[in-house]
Amino acid sequence: MTDISLRKSEHLRIVTEGRGAQDRVPTGLDLVRFRHCALPELDFDAIDLGTTFLGRELRAPLLISAMTGGPVEAGRINAHIAEACQELRIALSVGSQRIAVEHGDAGGLGRELRRAAPDVPILGNIGAVQLNYAIGIDEARRAVDMIEADALILHLNPLQEAIQPGGDRNFSGLLTRIEELAHALPVPIGAKEVGSGLSASVIRSLGDAGVRIFDVAGTGGTSWARVEAERGDAQLQAIAAPFHDWGIPTADALRAAAPLMGQGRILIGSGGIRHGLDVARAIRLGADIAGQAAGALSAARTGTEALVAHLSDVAQQLRIAMFCTGSADLAALRRAPLQEA
Ligand SMILES: Cc1cc2nc3c(=O)[nH]c(=O)nc-3n(C[C@H](O)[C@H](O)[C@H](O)COP(=O)(O)O)c2cc1C
Repeated sequence: MTDISLRKSEHLRIVTEGRGAQDRVPTGLDLVRFRHCALPELDFDAIDLGTTFLGRELRAPLLISAMTGGPVEAGRINAHIAEACQELRIALSVGSQRIAVEHGDAGGLGRELRRAAPDVPILGNIGAVQLNYAIGIDEARRAVDMIEADALILHLNPLQEAIQPGGDRNFSGLLTRIEELAHALPVPIGAKEVGSGLSASVIRSLGDAGVRIFDVAGTGGTSWARVEAERGDAQLQAIAAPFHDWGIPTADALRAAAPLMGQGRILIGSGGIRHGLDVARAIRLGADIAGQAAGALSAARTGTEALVAHLSDVAQQLRIAMFCTGSADLAALRRAPLQEA
């Protein structure tokens, strides 16, 4: 097993065992309290969770966030995710395509993924920093083509690269490379963090560079300082310890990002999304859809049926939140009154 493959397998194990979430700083989503409506004047079963994302219809505003698997499991996990998302008509993001681009369509990241999920938005994924290393415009095009992606998402993970031994740390000049890529690709470009949040000023710069999709991936869920520390020796653990809760909590990131949307931009709320009430809260704060990684991982490892069951529960919780706020659809949920402080 190569170093990268081993690392990805360890990430899966650490997050599934619950050792990757930090518990010092919350997402802030719990503080978003809807005002209860005792007279919704709605038929629960007629509530419309549907939305359009990248020109495709979603039955619920949900996304399985990017997760790379190790070499043994990646293909299986990606197949489960693709089948479940197709069945429920929700969006999916693949994990980093770096290995697949460099070594051929490995890990279930070939045409079979699109065949398993022909009707849903599929987001491609590469590390933005790789634009300074192994990935140029041709490789990025290949990443899009190999899964017929609807968009390519660049992940920004400076904290993870800084802590991870041997991390790729040259982030200089990236904005220019992102801008070149945004102009060269036939699909929209997005940017996401991996659990430390995108700030308003970063979103402004990325937006000026032509990025259209913004996934805040804020603090309060998976902590990459913690995940990498779990893999490291005592020295690395000591270096990483103060950074376990580093970043912008998801609710704060969404509040700051929402006023910068419009002009065809899309906002994804993610980072510590636990259930459908968190999805409702993220949407109330301005997200178009909400994404979940760690919260869906163990179901995704178990199988398609388990993931469908998990995501159906999330959708049901969202529907309950909409019912009890009198929101017939997502537009109404975005205006739902909050409880006075
Ligand atoms: C096992 C695992 C692997 C991940 N791999 C990637 C990746 O390859 N690319 C990426 O952009 N994000 C990756 N992420 C980050 C997630 O997409 C997400 O932004 C982050 O985990 C925060 O969401 P959460 O709190 O719901 O886990 C990974 C997350 C997990 C748990």
